[in-house]
Amino acid sequence: MKKIAVLTSGGDAPGMNAAIRAVVRMALYHGIEVMGVERGYSGLINGELFKMDRSSVSDIIQRGGTILRTARCEEFKTEEGRQKAANILKAYGIDALVVCGGDGSFMGAKLVSKLGVKTVGLPGTIDNDLAYTDYTIGFDTALNTVLDAINKLRDTSTSHERVSVVEIMGRNCGDLALYAGIAGGAESIIVPEKDFCKEDLCRTILEGKASGKNHNLVLVAEGVGGAGELAKYIENVTGIETRATILGHIQRGGSPTAADRVLASRLGARAVELLMEGKTARVVGIRENKIIDMDIDEALAMERTFDNDLFDVALAINK
Ligand code: ADP
Ligand code: F6P
Repeated sequence: MKKIAVLTSGGDAPGMNAAIRAVVRMALYHGIEVMGVERGYSGLINGELFKMDRSSVSDIIQRGGTILRTARCEEFKTEEGRQKAANILKAYGIDALVVCGGDGSFMGAKLVSKLGVKTVGLPGTIDNDLAYTDYTIGFDTALNTVLDAINKLRDTSTSHERVSVVEIMGRNCGDLALYAGIAGGAESIIVPEKDFCKEDLCRTILEGKASGKNHNLVLVAEGVGGAGELAKYIENVTGIETRATILGHIQRGGSPTAADRVLASRLGARAVELLMEGKTARVVGIRENKIIDMDIDEALAMERTFDNDLFDVALAINK
């Protein structure tokens, strides 16, 4: 293993920079050259590569976003597109590629590995929607951003004795909403993994009001969506003034938390070790605080399990 490349792909996530830094520094430590690829697979196809040294990754561990930029690239979904990418890597003498992204990016990495390029994937997404790993890079930071927003919304909804409905990202995964609900003490958490009944929700809100609650926080995962309509429905049925807030892309930015920086550093370093061991088409992750790796296909085939126990805890203690 003489030369590797690193790229970030799909939606950005805080901690991607810490992952890039770990890959670059670990590779250089072992005498391996590193090229950075800008704009994900799209930059790879267009030959947007540059040589990275220690200083290329100085002063980035604390920054959100990704210094390599990121992109979504339709052309990479075609065989011709991936062949172009593999040719570019070969022309640069690159033996292996580290991809930080979500399941779509991993699928791309898997397919390009069939063209003779060794690949390893790092889980970079705020959604925490990859079944094979307990946590993804960016989830903890996004969670803390959501928590900060919820704390502020609680202040104003308490002052006005309102209901506050907050829509939280996560694609089809309810983890961000669930963890934010636990950490922020939300009265109701609505996620795609669990059925919910609007009538019951309104009944709970009215019971809360009757028992002396002067605010009510309802978190809705974007996989369920419709925060605006839900707020109108709640106001009509309960007669309590209700406001909706869609947190949006604010959840994707910000300086990564210590937990995300440490996770990204551990995963990035392990990715380089795997490549040095001659492994390919692997993804790295964390399970029970141990760094693990797995075949990409196996990882993508794993079915996500929702933490029903944690959801039940929230139901019991946040009511
Ligand atoms: P994420 O990696 O966060 O899941 P996307 O699903 O948007 O984000 O995927 C990021 C990129 O990975 C896509 O724009 C595309 O270039 C590549 N990709 C996604 N799915 C595939 C696929 N089935 N085959 C090849 N490349 C893919
Ligand atoms: O995958 C991360 C994520 O932020 C999801 O939570 C959200 O559904 C999606 O990306 C938004 O994508 P875009 O940045 O393209 O609007």
